[in-house]
Amino acid sequence: MISHPVKEVLDELAQELETQYGVSTRTVRADLSDPESIPAIDRATQDIEIGLLVSNAGTGSPGAFLKHDPDQEARLVHLNATAHMRLSHLFGNKMSQRSRGGIILTSSIGAYQAMPYMASYSAAKAYTLNLGEALYVELKRQGVDVTVLVAGATDTPAKNWGGVKEASGLPLMWMKPEDVVEAALNSLGNAPSITPGAMNKLMSNISRRLLPRIGAASIFGRLMQASVEADLL
Ligand SMILES: NC(=O)c1ccc[n+]([C@@H]2O[C@H](COP(=O)([O-])OP(=O)(O)OC[C@H]3O[C@@H](n4cnc5c(N)ncnc54)[C@H](OP(=O)(O)O)[C@@H]3O)[C@@H](O)[C@H]2O)c1
Repeated sequence: MISHPVKEVLDELAQELETQYGVSTRTVRADLSDPESIPAIDRATQDIEIGLLVSNAGTGSPGAFLKHDPDQEARLVHLNATAHMRLSHLFGNKMSQRSRGGIILTSSIGAYQAMPYMASYSAAKAYTLNLGEALYVELKRQGVDVTVLVAGATDTPAKNWGGVKEASGLPLMWMKPEDVVEAALNSLGNAPSITPGAMNKLMSNISRRLLPRIGAASIFGRLMQASVEADLL
């Protein structure tokens, strides 16, 4: 089962934002791996103007492709790819009517090459990267800024995604979430995408520019095999 936002956690955060920063909030519980979540978000936001969409939710399911439940994989693709498209379409249209607004989509450096044992995740993140970079060009003319956050290793609870060993073989330098967020906000209106962090930039440049695609996929496959719990392979 893919995790989904718990209303109480959202309400707590909303309360904190209201008291500390004096901003009005509205929370909506939505499981973005479920196609029905998008009309629900639409209904819940009909009466307010959304100036900035941050479509950030995502999760991965490490392990051998054939061992995964295909229905669960389809939900993962909806969460990591289709939901970004649906939300960009929904709020992009409203922003374009006002000739202003911003959209940030979160992808991953896993988008830069195929990732065996995380196959659907890296494929979905590649979709989101290309979607956002295309919309950067399309929506600019309509006054809407779009950027893709191509995140690398970031110190969040994602570190503990089920199935990845604690001491994984992946060459990672974990970034602070606030530095990653700052990079994404600075990129909005300035670049179609941003990969924060020197190590992440280096790894993605090696993957994209120096290695043949099959070479990059093979290396990531070996790293993932060494990092994922044996029963998932
Ligand atoms: N951390 C990294 O190293 C890293 C690297 C590359 C890319 N990313 C990307 O960065 C984004 C944020 O991840 P994170 O690092 O902050 O990981 P995280 O701590 O696991 O947070 C994931 C977020 O997505 C939400 N989410 C998960 N499944 C959902 C669902 N079905 N419906 C609605 N919301 C859902 C979670 O809500 P709940 O907490 O309520 O479940 C949580 O807010 C993701 O798109 C991830 O793929 C992270």
